[in-house]
Amino acid sequence: MALITFSSPLHKDKTVYAVAGSRTQTVLTLAKEHHIPIDFGCENGDCGTCLVKVSSVDAKRSPMGAPLTDHEIRVLREMGKITQAEVDKMLVDDLCPTQWRLACQMVLRDEDLLIEYPSK
Ligand code: FES
Repeated sequence: MALITFSSPLHKDKTVYAVAGSRTQTVLTLAKEHHIPIDFGCENGDCGTCLVKVSSVDAKRSPMGAPLTDHEIRVLREMGKITQAEVDKMLVDDLCPTQWRLACQMVLRDEDLLIEYPSK
């Protein structure tokens, strides 16, 4: 099971377990299950309201997460959180090139993560 720590300057940090290998559990789903107040709107990767900063608890690794969705790429580009060069590199390296993710789009994997919110 992965340990996911939600951290915000506005709320007490909370660490919860994510279901290992669910392949469908998003950061936002987990947050809602545990009453963690991440802002959200569309829940479809279109509005960018659920922007969070994700880092691996293991400093030597970058977070695996599921790859950026097309919605995430478009919204993160519009928000200036990722460049086209980083997107191109992601397609070659198969690694997520940014710490910025949309909580409604990022599917959790079996890795311990720090999720920072609100991100503005
Ligand atoms: Fe709109 Fe996540 S809630 S992009």
